[in-house]
Amino acid sequence: MNIRQFMAQDHRDCDLLFAKAENAAADGDWQTASQAFNEFIRAMERHLGVEEQTLFPAFEQETGVLSGPTEMMRMEHDQMRVLFVEMKYAVQQKDSDEYLGISETLLILMQQHNMKEEQILYSMMDQRLPEDVGQWQTKFDDWQPEQE
Ligand SMILES: [Fe+2]
Ligand SMILES: [Fe+2]
Repeated sequence: MNIRQFMAQDHRDCDLLFAKAENAAADGDWQTASQAFNEFIRAMERHLGVEEQTLFPAFEQETGVLSGPTEMMRMEHDQMRVLFVEMKYAVQQKDSDEYLGISETLLILMQQHNMKEEQILYSMMDQRLPEDVGQWQTKFDDWQPEQE
């Protein structure tokens, strides 16, 4: 397995949690929605964090390109985080319409973002970075959320 396959699989794992939270929110099942939403956010922060703290810096160091694709991806991560905060508020308010409206925006953003990573950036990483993907698995396993 290479970086692209490994990270694309994690995209899909996050997508499943996203869909679980969205379905529960649509049903008005806020206990399930809240739990799935929290799992989704944790999985996403871990994914974005591993990219920002390890994968992107390794790529930037290897290529010397700091203001290219990784900068764009970091900006999109920040756009996602704004939506995470808004969705969290909608969960607290148990507001289905609000939640589904924001999650629709997030879904489009995530789909476009993930496609760019999977089709371009991860493939570039597989060409430039060491093949040992075991180290990325370890980074996921060791990842801890930042203190709030
Ligand atoms: Fe990303
Ligand atoms: Fe990603």
